[in-house]
Amino acid sequence: MAIELPDNKLVVASHNPGKVREIGDLLRPLGIEAVSAGELDLPEPEENEDSFEGNARLKAEAASVASGLAALSDDSGLCVDALGGAPGIYSARWAGPDKNFTTAMQKVEHELRDRYALSPDQRKAHFVCALCLAIPGHPSKVYRGEVHGVLVWPPRGGHGFGYDPVFQPEGYGITFGEMDPAAKHAMSHRARAFAQLVAALKGAAS
Ligand code: IMP
Repeated sequence: MAIELPDNKLVVASHNPGKVREIGDLLRPLGIEAVSAGELDLPEPEENEDSFEGNARLKAEAASVASGLAALSDDSGLCVDALGGAPGIYSARWAGPDKNFTTAMQKVEHELRDRYALSPDQRKAHFVCALCLAIPGHPSKVYRGEVHGVLVWPPRGGHGFGYDPVFQPEGYGITFGEMDPAAKHAMSHRARAFAQLVAALKGAAS
């Protein structure tokens, strides 16, 4: 059965401009009107769950309760195999209070070198995205997408955000930072979670 979206409108429950932009790009072709949590001045809840899914649920439900609207959240991050999945749910925090991703990318690289993880096989990483759709009066739904690849050094490319310049997806010779945004949108962790959300909105899944 299809999920009904009241007024074809939803709040993007994020204060991260990179994510808001990418989610807006993904929603636009569906004719869904998106407003951001920042525009509505909604408070940013503390992300204190221990999984991407848990944090996504917490953010979407907080935004939906505060706005009275349907809300879509994204909890995502970079998981590095040789680092036991770090930074994972702490990906944003590795950038520190100034949200400095040059520092965060350097930190990942230093941790990898400390573990002598220098062969391509030891540099495997994946991005995870958990999207949660919270609609007032309905149970929340969570959708997860992943994209696998390797970490490169030094960072390359000025597109995207966060860790994009050091992530090279499997089968590609360029990083997400070097990739045209439309190409990233066609195959990213966010796009893969989004495809499941769209299927649910259209009634192909629930
Ligand atoms: P959070 O979901 O708000 O906790 O933050 C997720 C963090 O993961 C972002 O601030 C980015 O650092 C990183 N991240 C998530 N998705 C992407 C992506 O598509 N490209 C690059 N970095 C990402």
